[in-house]
Amino acid sequence: MTGLRETLQHLAALPSDRPMGMPGAFYTSQDQFEHEAATVLRRGWHCLGREDEIPEPGDYFTVQLLNEPLIAVRGDDGEIRVLANVCRHRGMPLAEGQGNVKRFVCSYHAWAYGRDGALLRAARMENAGFDPKSCRLHTHRVQLRNGFIYASLDAEAAPFEHPELDALLAPYEPERFRLVHVAEETWLTNWKCLVENFMEGYHLSVVHPQTLHGYTPTGLARKLPSGDGFTAYAANYPGGIPPRGMGAPGLSADERNRSTLFAKFPTQVASQAASLLVSLSIFPVSAGEIRVKWTMSTYGDDLDDGVIAARIKLWEDVNREDREKLERMQVALASEHAQPGPLAGEDYEGTVRDFQIWLAAQDREEVTATEPHMTPTGPKDAPLHL
Ligand code: FES
Ligand SMILES: [Fe+2]
Repeated sequence: MTGLRETLQHLAALPSDRPMGMPGAFYTSQDQFEHEAATVLRRGWHCLGREDEIPEPGDYFTVQLLNEPLIAVRGDDGEIRVLANVCRHRGMPLAEGQGNVKRFVCSYHAWAYGRDGALLRAARMENAGFDPKSCRLHTHRVQLRNGFIYASLDAEAAPFEHPELDALLAPYEPERFRLVHVAEETWLTNWKCLVENFMEGYHLSVVHPQTLHGYTPTGLARKLPSGDGFTAYAANYPGGIPPRGMGAPGLSADERNRSTLFAKFPTQVASQAASLLVSLSIFPVSAGEIRVKWTMSTYGDDLDDGVIAARIKLWEDVNREDREKLERMQVALASEHAQPGPLAGEDYEGTVRDFQIWLAAQDREEVTATEPHMTPTGPKDAPLHL
């Protein structure tokens, strides 16, 4: 086990009243990134987007998840599938961006595939060893939950369950939200930095004095119960600010007067409010680069067009403020002096600690699964080189 992996185990085992963050190399080392890509990221379930991005048969969008180009497409049977965006002939991608197709026709030699990935036509093929009927695009595992589309690259990945997170979100009726905006950006930061940044309320008033401080000041951030594979906190609204849409009828006053921020590990972070749902899907590219796809959805017709336009602008500003901070931090994290620092308390950075503990548990599983000659290193015998 390398030094960073030992450090992760050691820090995740620290007492809960003295948590520490990871050293900079955890976020800047390409070796560490490739280890994560081959383990926690390849095994994980990743949010690709919203179901209502592709409401009609033939609607599709494409994304790149690690090395795998993917097409999410709604079939003639109404099912959403995630297909490998790689032609079975000689490997050309079949689609880009988003759109609607009757079939996917390869731009190289015109092989044609149905919306379910079956090969329909391969012109002039006289290769006797080739049976077109048994040829189809690889289909990745998919799970739909709360209106989101999740996929895993690992054919053996266990289906995910997180009833506590579902229960936390259920009063908001997330599956009833309708899409109003999608955008994609490149950020020069590590994927874990954005998970941590989105999930801690400690920075809100400092980084977002004009955009968020008035709605969700740091001082009102409160940790929510977390569970297997997720963490959450409440960004509570100060008393006296006007309601911004009523949302679902079953919401309590507390739920209506906060944004419920949650991370579904490893790569989805989202803010669920009464009338607004913003979700960021993080697609790691390298140690220092991610693609971010973010969606905004609203509850029914709760918000009019003017308010929606203002919310989109607000979130563009918030995301830019976060991106500027994270891109500057990414440079400094390469310093040998980027050593573990103390984390703030449960309400402010308890979510960062939850993520650290989850990553450590995932990495221990990896040791057990792939390196049976090694035993997970516990906190007592793991030297920490601070
Ligand atoms: S690579 Fe697609 S048809 Fe040749
Ligand atoms: Fe932020």
